Parts: sequence; structure tokens; C-alpha cells
Amino acid sequence: MINIALPKGRLGDQVYSLLETAGYGCPAVRENSRRLLFESEKNGVRYFWVKPSDVAIYVERGAADVGVAGKDILLEYEPDVYELADLGLGRCRMVVAAPKGFYDTGERTLRVATKFGHIASRYYAERGREIDIIRLNGSIEIAPLLGLSDVIVDIVETGTTLRENDLEVLDTVVPISARLIANKAAFKFKTAAVEELTQRLKGLV
Ligand code: PRP
Repeated sequence: MINIALPKGRLGDQVYSLLETAGYGCPAVRENSRRLLFESEKNGVRYFWVKPSDVAIYVERGAADVGVAGKDILLEYEPDVYELADLGLGRCRMVVAAPKGFYDTGERTLRVATKFGHIASRYYAERGREIDIIRLNGSIEIAPLLGLSDVIVDIVETGTTLRENDLEVLDTVVPISARLIANKAAFKFKTAAVEELTQRLKGLV
């Protein structure tokens, strides 16, 4: 049995479809219920739905053998897991954005609002720029509009949120997509099963 942590939401639905096509179906997963745990003995899989940002925790600690997490989460929290494949889903990018016309004169500490403090710190450290991180949990785009920050470091998918809030991209930090990750011990003890799953998924993406 392989235990698979799926990110709840649109990305998780896409990932499950891919797994189903790869031969790891578990029809109950699609039932519109509030159950979070599903098992298909026939296909040797047990699925659980978890918050997208928690997938890596379940996998790192071995509650799940494998899971699917965004590259943003992997870069931010650096969980001790193996990254097995880029599934090519959930494509977006991490960017630095600011109100239109903003220019960083470098004269004072730059205030950066973000959910991704580690990624932002690393980005600016590489550039030798002193910053003050303002950690928020959502609606990051509003921070510079209210003078809470100078810039933001956040995820952009369609660009609609930035556009509708009169913000513009200053730089791309890193492209993001969903990755198949595995627990290190599970990879050792369930090698054949995990590799089979990885190969089948890679064959589809
Ligand atoms: C993400 C991200 C942006 C938005 C970008 O937010 O933080 O706000 O999506 O998408 P777009 O470029 O297609 O407009 P999310 O929906 O996860 O909500 P939150 O960050 O406000 O919690």
C-alpha cells in the first residue's frame, strides 16, 4: 500500500486525475463528501486530502509515503524529502511586485510583505539588499497599497490580482510547479512501488 498526500483544491483534483490515469484510481475520492481518507486495496493506494502547504509535513514525517507539493513550499520550508518528478501542473511564478512606477533607490531598508519569508530573504541576501520582512498569510497585494510595505514577494498565476490592484512585476524570483515528493525511508523500503508510480506519472506529463 502506498500512502499518498494530496493537496486539497483544484491542483489536488488535477493530480488525482493524473494518478487515476496512471492506474491508481480510487473512485471514492471523487465522491462529494467530507471524508479525507480513501483506500483502494485493488490498486494498492491510500489517499488523504490535506492543506496544500501541509503536504510536505506529512511526507517528511512519514505519515504519507509520497505527496504532491508546490515548488514554492519546498523552497520555503526545505523539508527533508526526495523530489522525484516535476508534474508540470499548477504552473505559476514567484515574483517581486510593487505599485506601478515604484523605484527602489536603495536608500533605506526595503519593506517586503510576503508569505514566503525564507524565499524573499534569500533573494535579497543574494543581492546584498537589506530588507525588513513583513510576514502575512494572504491578500499580500494590499500591503503596498496601504503603505504597509514597499514591495511584495508572491505567487502570480494569471496576473489578474496584480493588474486589478495596480501592481507590476519587478522581477521573477523562480518558476513554480507541482512536484512529486517522497519520504526518504519510504523510498528505501517501498522502492519498487514508489519508482513504478514515479515512472508512470512521468510517462504522462
Ligand atoms: C494567490 C497569490 C495571488 C493570486 C495570484 O493567492 O497569492 O494573490 O493567487 O493569482 P493570479 O495571478 O491568477 O491573480 P491565493 O488565491 O492563494 O490567496 P491568498 O494568497 O490571498 O491566500
